[in-house]
Amino acid sequence: MDDKFNASLQGSLLDYSHLTGADLFGRTGDFLAWSDERKRQALWPFTRAHLSPPLTHCTIREQNGEEYKGVNFASQDYLSLASHPRIKRAAINAIEEFGVHSAGSAALMGSTALTQPLARLLAEHLQMEHAILYPTGWAAGFGVVTGLMRKSDWIVMDSLAHACLQTATRLGYKNVKLFPHNALDALGEILHTIRAGDKENAILVVTEGLFSMDSDAPDFAAMQAMCTRYQATLLVDVAHDLGSMGPNGGGNLELQGMLGKVDLVMGSFSKTFASNGGFVACNSKSVIEYLRCFSSPYTFSNALSPVQTAIILESLHLVREQEGAERRAKLIRNANTLRSRLVEHGIEILGHPSPIVPAVCSSDQVVRLASRHLRHAGVLANVAEFPAVPSGRARFRLQVMSDHTEEDTVIAANAIAACIGRARQELAA
Ligand SMILES: Cc1ncc(COP(=O)(O)O)c(C=O)c1O
Repeated sequence: MDDKFNASLQGSLLDYSHLTGADLFGRTGDFLAWSDERKRQALWPFTRAHLSPPLTHCTIREQNGEEYKGVNFASQDYLSLASHPRIKRAAINAIEEFGVHSAGSAALMGSTALTQPLARLLAEHLQMEHAILYPTGWAAGFGVVTGLMRKSDWIVMDSLAHACLQTATRLGYKNVKLFPHNALDALGEILHTIRAGDKENAILVVTEGLFSMDSDAPDFAAMQAMCTRYQATLLVDVAHDLGSMGPNGGGNLELQGMLGKVDLVMGSFSKTFASNGGFVACNSKSVIEYLRCFSSPYTFSNALSPVQTAIILESLHLVREQEGAERRAKLIRNANTLRSRLVEHGIEILGHPSPIVPAVCSSDQVVRLASRHLRHAGVLANVAEFPAVPSGRARFRLQVMSDHTEEDTVIAANAIAACIGRARQELAA
């Protein structure tokens, strides 16, 4: 390994995230040099483009121009609906009926006749009274926090909550507390302390239905009880598990018997529902109507297109039918096979069976090198390195689809194990 190659195995995005200096453009130069060298060395596993649909086998192009074919464990089309004939037909019908563009914010005239049926069916699916749709899941997370919370309120968040929620809290909120991941004792102490000193302001507690780096979930009943006790409001982001988990596609809330029993739910359609889009749901009409006027990404961003709305609505119907249940069962079988094969190879797997299988490699160097080899082994997989995960806990974040075959999972497990082993040997040499 030469010096440049070694340098590309070092450093992280964190080194470039707090740039200073008067030359706004110039100060981004060091980052370009570092990331370009990683791309040149095929050690940059990000910003890849599909050259074919995100099926279980596909072709991608790296940013350095190289193209690879392989079995795809890097797409979040968990129920394999993105190319489903019924979903494509719904999209085509919507284009014919409404055109391709919403041409306005949902707060003005961007909705179509499909919008209300989708919001209603989604609320019913979540066992909530009301739902509001956003252009993306990111917008929903950012919009619900900034729409409802005022500067003197408290935001208490799981330290691993998604970037859309974390970013919202950085906008001048002074009362922000992060609690260690899923540590409900710590959450209880924080809530107790806040309420002992402040009875005037609201508290929002934020967690996820399925944490995508660790494939785990908190005890929602315990969290909701704590929130009720301290007059706090619980928000659960169900982006990854809604539709893809639970007997009826109600996610981990359904699996824990908590559908309709937490204060606020938000999520994304960008995983299981084959489209961009997001939502917030709850039992309070006033909260939803308030968000329509005071949640910036709803009010001031173009609404979901008619095509997106039709795709999500048809996907939601499918999720609720027998076919949805069969696809979820297949998905979990695939995830279990992948998990057990990786464990047989001595690889540490995190969390519980879900569409996400986090396979730990240890250092960023190992995962970068293993990912470089994996391209040639016919497997496409995303990696998570520091600071997205703690230092020394870099991992492949494998995403399973219901259309994967058992053979696909075996190929992936064998290749990943071989590539991690090879990377470790090379680094030890
Ligand atoms: C937990 C979580 N919340 C929200 C989002 C944002 O969703 P979207 O992709 O629809 O913007 C994501 C997507 O990465 C996510 O993983």
